[in-house]
Amino acid sequence: MAKILVTGGMGYIGSHTTVELINKGYEVVIADDLSNSEIDTLSRIEKICGARPTFEKIDLKNMAHVLELFQDHRFNGVIHFAASKAVGESVAKPLKYYRNNLMTLINVLEAMKLTGTENIVFSSSATVYGQPEVLPVTEDSPFQKAASPYGNTKQIGEEIIEDSTNAYDRLKGISLRYFNPVGAHESALIGELPLGTPNNLMPFITQTAIGKLAQLKVFGTDYETKDGTCIRDYIHVVDLAKAHVNAVERMLEEKMTGSFEFFNLGTGNGQTVLEVINSFEKTSGEKLNYILAERRAGDVEKIWAEPTKANQELNWDAKLDLDVMTASAWKWEKHLADATAKI
Ligand code: WQD
Repeated sequence: MAKILVTGGMGYIGSHTTVELINKGYEVVIADDLSNSEIDTLSRIEKICGARPTFEKIDLKNMAHVLELFQDHRFNGVIHFAASKAVGESVAKPLKYYRNNLMTLINVLEAMKLTGTENIVFSSSATVYGQPEVLPVTEDSPFQKAASPYGNTKQIGEEIIEDSTNAYDRLKGISLRYFNPVGAHESALIGELPLGTPNNLMPFITQTAIGKLAQLKVFGTDYETKDGTCIRDYIHVVDLAKAHVNAVERMLEEKMTGSFEFFNLGTGNGQTVLEVINSFEKTSGEKLNYILAERRAGDVEKIWAEPTKANQELNWDAKLDLDVMTASAWKWEKHLADATAKI
């Protein structure tokens, strides 16, 4: 059975990807420092798929510990999620983001080189495209200057992996550029953990509806879009997770056409903020308390993916629609509320 290291595997996308890997018969080792996740997620993963991944609590900034991890296991591949990801915080604390997001990646790559571990899948982001000139965004769309240190660490991370796969024999890398991951596993046992006030739209919607937050602000209604609100390509986190399994399989089956590849992971559909709210109200039956407010600084007006390359080369496409996304996000929020109430 192939063994996969999932760094940051206790996090939102990492935990969903671990479930899909185990469902496909992979052995999973999760390495996580639990700085932005909970140990309880491990039991929830086991409850969903009937197998408990090995868990190693580790600071991936510590090279000695990373090397020890790679010497204790023979990994067939690595999926690297571990990173800080709050855009706003990265503007306030850029050095934390450069240190954490880049040093962890460099240590993992170094340990891979030293132990002959060949395959890495990297968690990247559509934020590398900034506000594209042409829509939908293909993989040929040029990088634009990152709007935040967080986005810059994704751009630099891709370049580090590309340079490393060009320099070191047998090292191969696939970068997956996520559009807007939302929703939760149908079991409502895993989902986006709300540590602090959320930045992202979906947790803000569900926390407002459940009463944790007073009101949602819709940031901007004067954009050049059908209803004046921003457009994004929202993708269900389970669809996103499955793409990672397909990327691992592409590498293990030696189907890559080069040592470094990258793919957009989106549905190809752009939806406005108001369309997301309407879907949420429809699927939850809740009336959402929101107001129309000023634009948020730094927001891209509209972006959505052209996912053909991933559809064809990863043999993957997004299957879950916006209503499934909002319904699963709401089920997860209610599960969180029940769990809190039981404490
Ligand atoms: C989506 C839309 C907001 C909150 C960010 C990161 C990106 C990725 C996904 C990590 C925008 C609007 C939001 C609210 C609102 N993260 N909004 N009221 O900014 O597209 O992308 O998260 O990889 O890197 O940049 O996502 O969910 O914050 O915003 O109106 O309270 O919802 O203006 O139009 P974003 P988001």
